[in-house]
Amino acid sequence: MKDLVWNNTFSVQVKEIDEDHRRLVKLFNILSHSVVNGDATNYTEAVLEELISCTVWHFRHEERLMLKYGYEGFVEHKTEHQELIESARALQQKSLQEGKPVSSEDIEFLEHWLTEHILVADMELGSHLAKAM
Ligand SMILES: [Fe+2]
Repeated sequence: MKDLVWNNTFSVQVKEIDEDHRRLVKLFNILSHSVVNGDATNYTEAVLEELISCTVWHFRHEERLMLKYGYEGFVEHKTEHQELIESARALQQKSLQEGKPVSSEDIEFLEHWLTEHILVADMELGSHLAKAM
């Protein structure tokens, strides 16, 4: 599995959001390495929890900026955040309940989960914020 490399195609033109996204990409790579290395399940689960918790925090950050700078797409964007968290929590629950470690399919799912939201919804948000801030 290749590392996810943060580059300018991921930049939403808002420094504080880009910084959060870099952090999430780093955590994603730590998780991916831990799956590839076959690390202890409790370690991998801890990294997954850190990634999800950090994402929850980051989404609150974006939502605050949306409210502060009057973003019209607030409700839609927030709904997407809720769905993303629910899908990651479902994956986490499944692996905890079945006592199975996070799989490489889960990693592929999470890669898509992370990058698609940045490249579509956050780009739109970023261009609004870059003008408004
Ligand atoms: Fe977002």
